[in-house]
Amino acid sequence: MATMRIGIIGAGTIARDHLRALLALEGVEIVGVVDPVQERAMALAQLAGAPALAEESALYDRRPQAVWLCTPPDLHPDQTVRAAEAGCHVFCEKPIALDLAGADRMIAACRRAGVHLMVGQVIRYYPETLALKRLVEEGALGQPLVVFGRRLLAARPETFPAWRLDPRRSGGFAVESEVHEVDTIRWLGGEVVRVVGQVGYGWAEHPDFDTVVHGLFTLASGAAGLLEASLQSGLRRWEWGVIGHRATAYSPRRGEVRLIRLADQHEEVIPVEPVVDPATGVNRSMQAENREFLEAIRADRPPAIPGEEGRADLAVVLALLQSAREGRPVSLAPAGG
Ligand SMILES: NC(=O)c1ccc[n+]([C@@H]2O[C@H](COP(=O)([O-])OP(=O)(O)OC[C@H]3O[C@@H](n4cnc5c(N)ncnc54)[C@H](O)[C@@H]3O)[C@@H](O)[C@H]2O)c1
Repeated sequence: MATMRIGIIGAGTIARDHLRALLALEGVEIVGVVDPVQERAMALAQLAGAPALAEESALYDRRPQAVWLCTPPDLHPDQTVRAAEAGCHVFCEKPIALDLAGADRMIAACRRAGVHLMVGQVIRYYPETLALKRLVEEGALGQPLVVFGRRLLAARPETFPAWRLDPRRSGGFAVESEVHEVDTIRWLGGEVVRVVGQVGYGWAEHPDFDTVVHGLFTLASGAAGLLEASLQSGLRRWEWGVIGHRATAYSPRRGEVRLIRLADQHEEVIPVEPVVDPATGVNRSMQAENREFLEAIRADRPPAIPGEEGRADLAVVLALLQSAREGRPVSLAPAGG
């Protein structure tokens, strides 16, 4: 297998996980790590045995074939366009961008340059969501009636990097985090055609940062999608599920999915492997998404989560925010419209 020359742009939290996952794959050579914060670039560069670089241009001088974009979301459009113009395939962390115009620019630039673009909606590779998807596809649940994603956390703003608390850089909690639950609902339940949203702002010292996000979605199938998310909840739950007309399946905690037959309430626990490999510390779900992108590049086929999917997720989140602002339901244009 020919070695793929890869550059990492942004050397923060998620970049470290990607790097470890990439280094555990065959046929990967890291040719440089870019971050304006020198000690971050150096720490990851050392791990990769590659140079630490302060500028993207220095990375492109080293002729990478693909880049992993692990920077704050406001930077994704311009950085993707530059990568595509340098002839690089782009793995872009979620959210794809902060607005649809940015996402469109990214998709168009990659298309023009003939390179592939994949968005890191990694939850599609979590063992729990893969088990849910299998149950839906096998028909074990019957006709899906409700698909839900619930992230109820007790978080503290002082643990967030500054860019995350700035909606002009992150898009806020709904865009930056809840694009994950939206993606999971779309992946398990199909397209969202109508959105009712409600958003709360609960951190007094960050009055324009949303901390509570609720969405009620009408799916094209007629099923409902339910999104419930909070950074200010004592419930501490992060789960996804599907309620079908014959059975319900959900992931009450990491490492298991529960399947409850409605007719007799029989409950089965389906164990799934942990996301992080306890022996190596490698995030298996990230490794799976990275493997998928490398395979797509090698086969010159669209990756499993192309830019258009990231754009569709973002469109739903933006519709939720619009609905919350305007106090009315918002309909979504059909995909491609
Ligand atoms: N898939 C997931 O589950 C997941 C989890 C966390 C974060 N993310 C996403 O990953 C991205 C990064 O998040 P993070 O938590 O790693 O943030 P972070 O703050 O830990 O890291 C971001 C890094 O980008 C660097 N940076 C800033 N400007 C840059 C530039 N012009 N060129 C190169 N580097 C630059 C910063 O110095 C920082 O080191 C965000 O889009 C975030 O939403 C995804």
